[in-house]
Amino acid sequence: MSKSTNIVWHQTSIQKEDRRNKNGHGSFVLWFTGLSGSGKSTIANALAQKLYEENKQVFVLDGDNVRHGLNKDLGFSEEDRKENIRRIGEVSKLFVDSGQIVVTAFISPFREDRELARSILDKDEFIEVYIKCSLQECEKRDPKGLYEKVRKGEIKQFTGVDSPYEEPLAPELVVDTQKNSIEDCVKEIIQFLQLQNKI
Ligand code: PPS
Repeated sequence: MSKSTNIVWHQTSIQKEDRRNKNGHGSFVLWFTGLSGSGKSTIANALAQKLYEENKQVFVLDGDNVRHGLNKDLGFSEEDRKENIRRIGEVSKLFVDSGQIVVTAFISPFREDRELARSILDKDEFIEVYIKCSLQECEKRDPKGLYEKVRKGEIKQFTGVDSPYEEPLAPELVVDTQKNSIEDCVKEIIQFLQLQNKI
């Protein structure tokens, strides 16, 4: 529920469409979701690098990074994760309005929260990408040593272990990082965007 009253929306003279036309490509969010260690940040970074080299306007919003600043007041309870995702949805909208391709790399474990983020954006501006990898494989990779800490009882409410992860039911795209290389996953996403005339 909004606490602000007596506020008026100001139209700016430069519209989203103007920025898109100038950039020569659409602006939208690639909303990555997946377990810790599934490869969200790695693929987001590799994809952004590739798009950047092709002179596209692209920006990555990453869970760990955003939690160092904007969302440093939030933990990992269901309520805090919900607020985390809501804020990222709103920030993504601002970036999309500024003409950028936004790649978000958040676990975003709850369907309802991802749907809320989707609802903040226009219909064709939200592309849900499931970064698919089994818990067993994520745990084997354990790039930050977090699963080891979880198993020792040093971290609670960890996604996939003692906090739920709700797989997307109808994502726009699924990339399987267990079966495919990072390079192939990036190619798959780029091909999808080209087919959809997004870039
Ligand atoms: S969420 O669920 O979308 O709000 O999480 P997110 O903002 O993406 O942050 C996930 C990163 O925080 C670290 N971390 C945890 N993840 C899940 N559960 C618990 N309890 C937790 N505690 C810390 C972890 O590094 C996550 O990063 P990734 O890149 O997913 O491994």
